[in-house]
Amino acid sequence: MNLPKLTDIDVAGKRVLVRTDLDIDIGENYRLEAVVPTLKYLAAKAVEITVMGHMGRPGGKIVDGLRIAPVSEALKKVCGEVKFEVLENLRFNPGEELNDLNFAKELATKGDIYVNEAFATSHRVSASITTLPKLLPHAAGMRFAEEVENLSKVFENPKRPVVFVIGGSKDDKKGYIKNLESFADKILVGGRLPEFYGDLALESRRNVGDGAKVIIANLNQDKEDITLNSIEIFEKAIENAGTIVLAGPMGRYEDEGHRQGTERIFKKVASSSAYKIVGGGDSLSVLSFYSLKDKFDWVSVGGGAMLDFLAKKTLPGI
Ligand code: 3PG
Repeated sequence: MNLPKLTDIDVAGKRVLVRTDLDIDIGENYRLEAVVPTLKYLAAKAVEITVMGHMGRPGGKIVDGLRIAPVSEALKKVCGEVKFEVLENLRFNPGEELNDLNFAKELATKGDIYVNEAFATSHRVSASITTLPKLLPHAAGMRFAEEVENLSKVFENPKRPVVFVIGGSKDDKKGYIKNLESFADKILVGGRLPEFYGDLALESRRNVGDGAKVIIANLNQDKEDITLNSIEIFEKAIENAGTIVLAGPMGRYEDEGHRQGTERIFKKVASSSAYKIVGGGDSLSVLSFYSLKDKFDWVSVGGGAMLDFLAKKTLPGI
């Protein structure tokens, strides 16, 4: 893929705007560490760096619990000497998610060059991701380019069977599952997602054992974890995989009583000899919790973005 590279544009003496992934659980620094090489590179050349990003889903208004300050502090710690300014949560302005041209123009006044280092948000059509780069000379950040390179290995001649394990709590992942069906050999669906599958076609694929391409887990009565039977079916599919993509926990892993599915499935994938990648904000927290990060071939900063990229081989931010 021909991404405009950071090293191909002249940033010397310029003001650079860097869109980053700041949507993190405080204490989980992986997404912050991912932007350090780009910020260090820029710090040596550019005259001014402005970092921007969003946290959570404040819905276009100020939500005190989603202010950027704590993330900005964490980013400064991770970056050491590098100096930059961080803008307030972009999603406090309704223009961000509405992909508003005027909001993008307002952001464009703050820099001469735009760098996209927000792979995890690049599946969203929003002002800072899709419109701003149309207003300024632009490039992909270093990590962004690495994400594209490593994730592309999943669809460029992968070792089969290719197994996707998709969980988490965001219902829009349902859309990616449909898109992945033509390419994947197996898609295992857990987390909160089974609850979002109301329609009969998908219901009919529930409980069919390991024969179906898409296997939707059954949930325990309290709906906070997948059942033991589903765990065992998933483990069997994972055992035979040549390539595995893991995106999202299997239940409310934050509670001790609801982490069995997540623990067993994450550990099962981690111990597999398949080419394996994992991604997403909650997955990153699970990896830290069980110290599993170094067991994977690639740990993507993206969750939904990773799946969208794998399904379509591109993203709105690309
Ligand atoms: C993420 O955490 O996956 C990204 O920050 C995107 O967040 P969103 O699903 O709220 O757009």
